[in-house]
Amino acid sequence: MDAVAALRTLVEWGVDEALEDAPRARFAMPQAPAADTSLAPGRPKAAPRPALAASAPIQQAEQLAASATSLEALRATLAGFDGCALRATATNLVFTDGNPSAGLLVIGEGPGPEEDRAGRPFVGASGRLLDKMLGSVGLDRSNYLISNIIFWRPPGNRTPTDQEVALCLPFMWRLLALTRPRRVLLLGKLAACSLSGSQLGIRRLRGQWLPLAVPGLEAPVPALATLHPAYLLRTPAAKREAWMDMLALRTALDSDASDAG
Ligand code: URA
Repeated sequence: MDAVAALRTLVEWGVDEALEDAPRARFAMPQAPAADTSLAPGRPKAAPRPALAASAPIQQAEQLAASATSLEALRATLAGFDGCALRATATNLVFTDGNPSAGLLVIGEGPGPEEDRAGRPFVGASGRLLDKMLGSVGLDRSNYLISNIIFWRPPGNRTPTDQEVALCLPFMWRLLALTRPRRVLLLGKLAACSLSGSQLGIRRLRGQWLPLAVPGLEAPVPALATLHPAYLLRTPAAKREAWMDMLALRTALDSDASDAG
């Protein structure tokens, strides 16, 4: 195969970016735990997320997440967790940014290339649009904590598999339990569906407050589903709906503040 054909094949496989100057012989490195083949991608999309708790790496993720008693401990635990194969191809863990005690948690899908390089969520084009959206209702990163369902960049920005989601979810539930937000903003279908359990599309869910049953918290946490900024970049006409959602968020935060005061 000549060099151009080899490069084309790599791009088709999702290898669209050089992360380091020199190649790494990954087959000569310690392997991540074998994937749970019952959860391989290619399952029909509409099927409910099945008996994921049976898988040993998921149980390990649940135990590790439960053992963390602070946000910093959770970050350290996640950084040491090698049960998710995405960690091997990512440059950095992308955990949280912003203010953990602000009472608002914003949750996206997973890191893209800029986030992978920076080790911080939402620093690329989607992040800049999100900053403007939240800024338009008076919120900056001192007013919320931001994170993602997936903590490492999927190669080539592919959609995360059900197994990758299931391996990351225990850490997200623990993040919710530790930070106890009064409100959550769910960006896009992956965040909205994997935390609420709904199977509906995001265009149906957006604008709705979904009750999140967070293990360890007494009451469900109200979470507003909205459109992901990456979708809005591709579909500017949908910005109007996202704007309505921002107003609904602002109204809820103001009413929480007046209840508390
Ligand atoms: N999209 C996401 O869902 N999360 C990020 O951190 C960046 C882009």
